[in-house]
Amino acid sequence: MSGDRSSSGLVICAGWLLLASLTFACSTSKATPAPAPVPELWGTFKPVVSVKELMRDMLDPIADNIFDSVSIVVTKDGTVETAPHTEEDWEKIRIGAVTLAEGVYLLKVPRPFAPAGDLNNSTGPDAVELSPAQITAKVGADPVEWNARIEALRNVGLEVLDIVKRKDAEELWDACENLDIACESCHRSYWYPGETNRFYSKLDRRLRDLQTPSPQGQPKR
Ligand code: HEC
Repeated sequence: MSGDRSSSGLVICAGWLLLASLTFACSTSKATPAPAPVPELWGTFKPVVSVKELMRDMLDPIADNIFDSVSIVVTKDGTVETAPHTEEDWEKIRIGAVTLAEGVYLLKVPRPFAPAGDLNNSTGPDAVELSPAQITAKVGADPVEWNARIEALRNVGLEVLDIVKRKDAEELWDACENLDIACESCHRSYWYPGETNRFYSKLDRRLRDLQTPSPQGQPKR
């Protein structure tokens, strides 16, 4: 019985091999076909706001439709759990997912990183943020990374859309974590690469110093 199965398997394999070699022969005998023409866009893109404002006024608030969809808050009166139940709850999450997945492509439209005159927290000894000019140079030097980080966020949008279709509230927890990672990894690379472990341990030390009471019982300033 098992012998029969493996011999018919062999026949099928041989058939595939023959087919594969024929296809190979056909495709090598012809000249490489011309690439399909890139479809024209319906218009040109003209940005309205800087990246910073696009974050503040679009991507950040709409991401909350997803981030706020599930939570467990422990208060002194008990535990309050939030999860989507109604059609409206799921619609809100879908609006978040679609707006993120489509909207993040607006980061491919060349635009200033911050409004004119805004240098971010890029000056002074403890500055952790890059200036808009530094971010522009970094993206220009390696646009592949910038686009990959855009795709990473878009993928989370697609993941959430799928969850909405299946109404699987449990999976939203993972999706929220993925969303946080997609936002933060881009920020760490382009916005505040100065926030390294060293920065945090320095901050930690400074906070501890502030909390340690001085001999007079007053916190140190
Ligand atoms: C492809 C990269 C990228 C991704 C992905 C990204 N951001 Fe940003 N974001 C930036 C950059 C760069 C800045 C800083 C721009 C500047 O200030 O020059 C920024 C700034 C911000 C700011 C600051 C706005 C202000 O007014 O100071 C917020 C808030 C923010 N992002 C939220 C988010 C959230 C939430 C997500 C995920 C849903 C996200 N970002 C995903 C690149 C990204």
